[in-house]
Amino acid sequence: MSVVEKAGANVLKTTFAKKDKKKKKDKNRSAEIVETRPSEPETIDLDFAELARHGFYNPNDRSSQLALEMRAVKRRLLRRIGYLRSSGERQAFRTPGKQRNTILVTSTRAGEGKTFTAINLALSLALEDQIETLLIDADLARPKIRTRLSLPEAPGLCDLLTHRDLDAASLGWRLNSGPLAIMPEGACAERPTDLFATEIAQEKWTELSTANPQRLVIIDAPPVLAATDAVMLAKYADEIVFVVEANSTPEAAVAAAVDELIDINPNVSLMLNRCQIGAGGAHYGSYEYYGRSEAAETPAGKDKPSSEG
Ligand SMILES: Nc1ncnc2c1ncn2[C@@H]1O[C@H](COP(=O)(O)OP(=O)(O)OP(=O)(O)O)[C@@H](O)[C@H]1O
Ligand SMILES: [Mg+2]
Repeated sequence: MSVVEKAGANVLKTTFAKKDKKKKKDKNRSAEIVETRPSEPETIDLDFAELARHGFYNPNDRSSQLALEMRAVKRRLLRRIGYLRSSGERQAFRTPGKQRNTILVTSTRAGEGKTFTAINLALSLALEDQIETLLIDADLARPKIRTRLSLPEAPGLCDLLTHRDLDAASLGWRLNSGPLAIMPEGACAERPTDLFATEIAQEKWTELSTANPQRLVIIDAPPVLAATDAVMLAKYADEIVFVVEANSTPEAAVAAAVDELIDINPNVSLMLNRCQIGAGGAHYGSYEYYGRSEAAETPAGKDKPSSEG
């Protein structure tokens, strides 16, 4: 071995040793937090006035523009997953092991409003409609839910996907003022894409969906073009809300991202964020929602649901 080769081999050896050490440290850290967690999630209050100052849904202001827009979005979304039907009818729409209650929020690229949308949807469903909702931060590379809601670091999704015995119900927080639970990203020692591809991941996502068929699970995912995580997550979801930042994301990029998703899961609806409506486009920050034809969702032999908009 030449001197240069020897030096190269040493650099690689040291780098790998450092990485292994860090991995071990991270793993121990996540094990420690998991062991010291109480079995019931902590209850919390959110500062809605502060959140509203940052443009988020405010349950105390039911006539705001955002509240009205969210109502329209929710109605269409709930119709698409069959939530507005009677429970008997919902049963007929389900395939075994699937509850039709898991909603993935993603987009083409970063910063289009996924986290904003996922939080608003969760708050509005839980606090206005009193629908039991679980909001999960699955953007493991760039988690934002905790920071947006001013919540501390805590065990969450990463821990759940790496510890088979961990009970999802013990993670995160529950809101005092309504039926909303929040699961943060948790402590990650592995690459998110590897985590989402495991057998445990499959089991845990199924458990999250089946634990309470009446509960909606909203997943804040990374953008499709950043990594394969969102595409991996798409297979666990029943409906994908694809956020598009109006007048910003190039159409070809949106088409490429949607194309990747529908290969895995065809239930994609587009949500236009920050679109401008009204005279002169005066209003900013509103939502428009476009779903595929709902006809395809009708089970054989049933009447077709009426389509909206
Ligand atoms: N309709 C809107 N009205 C007001 N603010 C918005 C709106 N949509 C997004 N924002 C703000 O824009 C910023 C980026 O949004 P957000 O974090 O939700 O994007 P993201 O798609 O989740 O990004 P990332 O891919 O980095 O996670 C945030 O500060 C968010 O509060
Ligand atoms: Mg985000």
